[in-house]
Amino acid sequence: MPALDPLERFRLDGRVAIVTGASSGLGARFARVLAGAGARVVLAARREQRLEDLAGELDGALPVRCDLADPEAAGALVDAALAEYGRVDVLVNNAGTNEVIPALEQPPERFRAIVDVNLVAPFALAQRAARVMIEAGRPGAIVNVASIWGVVGVGQISDAAYAASKGGLVNLTRELAAQWARRGVRVNALAPGWFPSEMTLGTMFGDERAERWVATRAPMGRGGEEHELDGALLFLASDASSYMTGQVLLVDGGWTAV
Ligand SMILES: NC(=O)c1ccc[n+]([C@@H]2O[C@H](COP(=O)([O-])OP(=O)(O)OC[C@H]3O[C@@H](n4cnc5c(N)ncnc54)[C@H](OP(=O)(O)O)[C@@H]3O)[C@@H](O)[C@H]2O)c1
Repeated sequence: MPALDPLERFRLDGRVAIVTGASSGLGARFARVLAGAGARVVLAARREQRLEDLAGELDGALPVRCDLADPEAAGALVDAALAEYGRVDVLVNNAGTNEVIPALEQPPERFRAIVDVNLVAPFALAQRAARVMIEAGRPGAIVNVASIWGVVGVGQISDAAYAASKGGLVNLTRELAAQWARRGVRVNALAPGWFPSEMTLGTMFGDERAERWVATRAPMGRGGEEHELDGALLFLASDASSYMTGQVLLVDGGWTAV
């Protein structure tokens, strides 16, 4: 009997993956991980030069400028992927935004603007990508990048819109998974704890008090390192997780375990 290759199901050769928010932080890393596993990656965000620079490093990547606050953006992004590659197999809904402001002071229109990017746009993209996957009759995987803030409150940092949008994304994941499970589209959420990125630099990382708070509060005594989401992301995006849908994978150093 040939030796079992348990890593084969993590490969993405021949697949096409869209990664939103690929111009920085976790999204740029996710794009590198998926490309490293063999996927052709569509890189989406507003900062085009950054996308072009990253595309230059990866084999066969496509940079697509898009502003996910624009209701037309989801359709245009999926269409761009189809025009270039003719298929979409993986969608990583990673782009996100936040505003640290006490709930008592946040104008509802600012709240709504965050929900638009963090929740409405991922829904529109998932809907559009799922239609393509179902019509093609090929299995698809959608990974929604949520947050520990989508399953617990935080309080010490004030961001009600972020908490609401990530909580919404967590249960949207379950609902879409249930609706599409028999049609070959799996939907899971990856919920990170604290990781260094543009979003967290200056608030969580690089600020002594905040770093001390994370170190004291997190069972592992530290924030996450850049590479510590690679395995979870690839697992959810690939056939390695083919019997898993509607789940939230928390990668948080134990933050939500206590
Ligand atoms: N870092 C953490 O500790 C942490 C923890 C939990 C969850 N997350 C989640 O991880 C995801 C990535 O965040 P990050 O930490 O890597 O922060 P980041 O470096 O600030 O990345 C955010 C990304 O989203 C894109 N984006 C924001 N608004 C957009 C819009 N209107 N249209 C298109 N793209 C937009 C940004 O690109 P442009 O500015 O170029 O458009 C950027 O690439 C977010 O969903 C975040 O909520 C992060």
